[in-house]
Amino acid sequence: MFQGKRILLGITGGIAAYKTTFLVRLLSKAGAEVKVVMTQSAGSFVSPLTLATLSKNPVLLDFVNEEDGSISWNNHVELGLWADLMIIAPATANTLSKMANGVCDNLLLAAYLSAKCPVYFAPAMDLDMYKHPSTKASMDKLESFGNVMIPAETGELASGLHGEGRMAEPENIIEFIKRDLAKNLPLKGKKVLITAGPTHEAIDPVRFLGNRSTGTMGYELAKKAAALGANVILVSGPTHLTMEQDGVLLARVTSAQEMYEACHKHFQDVDIAIASAAVADYRPKEVAKSKIKKQEGDLHIQLERNPDILKSLGEKKTKQFLVGFALETDNELENAKGKLQRKNLDAIVLNSLNDGGAGFGQSTNKITFIDKNLDIKAFELKTKSEVASDIWKEIISRIHA
Ligand code: C5P
Repeated sequence: MFQGKRILLGITGGIAAYKTTFLVRLLSKAGAEVKVVMTQSAGSFVSPLTLATLSKNPVLLDFVNEEDGSISWNNHVELGLWADLMIIAPATANTLSKMANGVCDNLLLAAYLSAKCPVYFAPAMDLDMYKHPSTKASMDKLESFGNVMIPAETGELASGLHGEGRMAEPENIIEFIKRDLAKNLPLKGKKVLITAGPTHEAIDPVRFLGNRSTGTMGYELAKKAAALGANVILVSGPTHLTMEQDGVLLARVTSAQEMYEACHKHFQDVDIAIASAAVADYRPKEVAKSKIKKQEGDLHIQLERNPDILKSLGEKKTKQFLVGFALETDNELENAKGKLQRKNLDAIVLNSLNDGGAGFGQSTNKITFIDKNLDIKAFELKTKSEVASDIWKEIISRIHA
């Protein structure tokens, strides 16, 4: 959820500021890039140097930066626009009130007013301040702006009193934001089936017919789908790839027949299915029970057709948005369109073997996305991870249309 996200952490002057060191660590560990902007009084509670070291970015305190005899300007607009997410923690009653009223007398507040991203705030104050109607009014107003409050927790307070007002623990802040972001993800609640990799068709106990597919495209599609909120079943032929991502259930298969069975087991329940596997079209008719011995002359292996998994899913399709891949060498667009119709697909992703950098064994791919209305969109050569994002954007725009 936080992987690659740019997070602007605004720290204001409360004792809970010391906990933000852990918050920065947790966010960085989760893959986020963190920049810290803090008020002058926050600097009395936690050292800017500690936060700069943990975040691996300079900590911003003021509009004006004086360093080594030179003066520079910390651009609050750039800072606000840089962020994918802004978290204000701890948020004191003073800063909440200023945020609610558009006061802009420090860099943190200016960055807040410039930020176009989602803003979360985690109040921290004494119990009576937390309960005060004026604080409540500030928090309500901020929520009416679309900012999201991470409620304070109950416990011992710096004053020695016991009650509501402690800043939420860093782990809880992370969990809260994760859950909140997940609510708005475009594939939230969707089930997705993806096939990936090659299939191996046994000749005898030690040999098989296979192909050079690495499975990368399918694995990237699965990772992106899970990051977009989906529950994914990834039916994968033999590959060296692993899948650590939450939300992806990996079902390993070997042959096309096994892939066929795994897909049909899940297909009824899914909303979207993408067949990116390079399925062998033929398999040996007989699988020798023991290793075939060398003999004089040629060896003939008779092959029989494997089921076309994608076509069989197209025949069974009810509510599912079904996407296939087409790897073509000639007459690419026409062949891909033909496949789209024959297999009853909602869209097909064409990659041409004529394009350098596209297809098997490459870390990049160049695709053309064609939907059933024959809307065609050609993309540049990109990494397979970027291609996966493009494919999902296209699918999402059609399922939500
Ligand atoms: O017809 P062709 O094999 O070119 O179609 C490619 C598409 O069909 C891909 O999406 C591939 O995953 C799928 N396919 C399949 N089962 C097969 C052959 C291809 O699901 N036996």
